[in-house]
Amino acid sequence: MSKKTIADLRDLAGKRVLIRVDFNVPQDAEGNITNDRRIRAALPTIRSILDAGASAIVMSHLGRPKGDPKKDAAFRMDKVAERLRELLGKPVHKADEIIGVKVSAAAQALKPGEVLLLENLRFHPGEQSGDQVFAGQIAGLGDVYVNDAFGTCHRSDASMLAVPAAMPKKPRVVGHLVAKELEILDKLLTAPSRPVVSILGGGKVSDKIGFIKSLLKRVDKVLIGGAMSYTFMKAQGKAVGGSRIEADKLDVALELLELGKGKILLPVDHLIVDKISNFSNARVVEGEIPEGWIGVDIGPKTISLYRDEISKAATIVWNGPVGKFEDEPFSKGTRAIADALAASKGITIVGGGETAEAVEEFGLADKLTHVSTGGGAFLEYVEGTPFAALAQIEER
Ligand code: 3PG
Ligand code: MG
Repeated sequence: MSKKTIADLRDLAGKRVLIRVDFNVPQDAEGNITNDRRIRAALPTIRSILDAGASAIVMSHLGRPKGDPKKDAAFRMDKVAERLRELLGKPVHKADEIIGVKVSAAAQALKPGEVLLLENLRFHPGEQSGDQVFAGQIAGLGDVYVNDAFGTCHRSDASMLAVPAAMPKKPRVVGHLVAKELEILDKLLTAPSRPVVSILGGGKVSDKIGFIKSLLKRVDKVLIGGAMSYTFMKAQGKAVGGSRIEADKLDVALELLELGKGKILLPVDHLIVDKISNFSNARVVEGEIPEGWIGVDIGPKTISLYRDEISKAATIVWNGPVGKFEDEPFSKGTRAIADALAASKGITIVGGGETAEAVEEFGLADKLTHVSTGGGAFLEYVEGTPFAALAQIEER
């Protein structure tokens, strides 16, 4: 890795370290955290800073607040602070603002080993507009800047770009999480152990065109599942019944199939239902999907075919569930893929919010080499998009 990391810094004792994390965690209707993976993933960096005798000023966005005080209340960082306190077992002060005299005073008052969590960065319009004055005020809070927000690295929000840019004479490094994500993905992109097999699922082809093109250049096999497989089938002129497809993406799907000739595998059988809410008459069909039926998962023959490909791979990268897995009766395919990755002796990489949540739900995350904290960031990095946020970090 060419970027300086927190491990490269000496003499942190007594310093105030400003850490941009991605605590944009999923929440339920009441604003409760439904998955704290992104908070846990940032702990090694925060701990290492506190253990070095420094204090930490931690900042993140949460959700996409629209400036409506009533609706935005669910996006306050209090519950995140509470969870961070529990996980860290250390004092975490929560600021109710992002900038201003109160925040500056709270930062000044921090003792070594203490944490100050700022309020949701996106409560200030300057965060997403990249406002320099706003950024300058945040930059003034810290002696060191750490980017440990891999999931936000594809964004040019002020805290990702303008803040480190406003700290030209201070150390600007990545944290342990970003370092790990980059190390694993750089290896995948440049010199992966072969054969490399990729499993691609999810609803839409359109979200992932660049990602699929990039993978087709680098991997040996691409196994397609999820609703996107019906768009590919339709593009081939096959019947898909009432399955969800992207009618305006058939030409793109054909282009990808052409590009991936000999590499792309599509499902050979499907679990189908006559109504999406109807679990009782689900059945398996081979080949095409009859009129009046909807595909909801890959079928058993596809599972065994894909399992076989995965077992032969030295590197496996997976993005997107292969069926409507949130409904238990339609989760067999996604679970089988997760099991096959967990059983693999190869390097196993999972990316994308939904897929990461699926492997966690199945209790298999610990059996994989790497579960990325990136959704969009994971896709864009694999696609080859350079991250402007990383250009703000010092080279080694
Ligand atoms: C994410 O979850 O994709 C990141 O936290 C970035 O959030 P955003 O998509 O709202 O910019
Ligand atoms: Mg996103």
